[in-house]
Amino acid sequence: MIQYQINFYDSLDSTNSEVKRLCDQGMAEGAVVVAAAQTSGRGRLGRSWVSPLGNLYFSILLKPKVTLDVLSQLSLVAGIALAQTIKYYQGNSDGITLKWPNDVLLKCQKAAGILVETEIESSSTDGIPCYLGIGVNFNSAPDLTVYPATCLNEFLNIVPEVEDFLQQYLIIFSSLYEIWQKRGFSVLKSEWLEFAHGLGQTVTAIAGREGLVTGVFETITDQGGLVIKDQIGKKNVISSSEVTFPH
Ligand code: BTN
Repeated sequence: MIQYQINFYDSLDSTNSEVKRLCDQGMAEGAVVVAAAQTSGRGRLGRSWVSPLGNLYFSILLKPKVTLDVLSQLSLVAGIALAQTIKYYQGNSDGITLKWPNDVLLKCQKAAGILVETEIESSSTDGIPCYLGIGVNFNSAPDLTVYPATCLNEFLNIVPEVEDFLQQYLIIFSSLYEIWQKRGFSVLKSEWLEFAHGLGQTVTAIAGREGLVTGVFETITDQGGLVIKDQIGKKNVISSSEVTFPH
């Protein structure tokens, strides 16, 4: 199990940046940085993450002992833990989905985001330093976003305290993280698929190597890649991309 050490701040530039600073100072895996607000919150693909008071922003320092080729699975594992945490509070998984690779949607609107940053060049027998950053909209969602956004208090009948939600997330994540490192992503694949957004529907992926791929979202692979069956029946495995799903 991860030995967590939690540090709370009123405001930070970015919890991911702070966890990186802690890593540079030699902190062990399990350091957690939580901020009530961020002034330079970062999102995926170079976007910013608007971070006013009232939502949850945190990052965990991880040093997984895995090979580089499976590192991208960490964000899928983090997404499963987030979906399961919301399910825990709702009592069922209705309306909770994961948009591949790891956006958490509530009734098709984004409610949380996950950003994994890594220090591949610093990897050692101690593991690969990774900064797992998570933003959960509790009380407000930004208006002008690429995708429609929502927050937990528009979705859950009883909204938990932010600290309580964080504790629950950390417990769930720790056990999934251990399973992933010991047994690999293939044993967690069905847990991800339980929440898969748009499964069986037509999706378009703008993938690096493959270009534009449109077809039916069939499943994910044991490695976490997105399987899209195109019009001529060819199965394309997408490992990283921006994917457009129907709403
Ligand atoms: C996304 O683009 O969906 C990922 C958003 C990740 C935001 C979180 S908030 C806590 C942590 N600190 C950051 O600067 N970013 C992540």
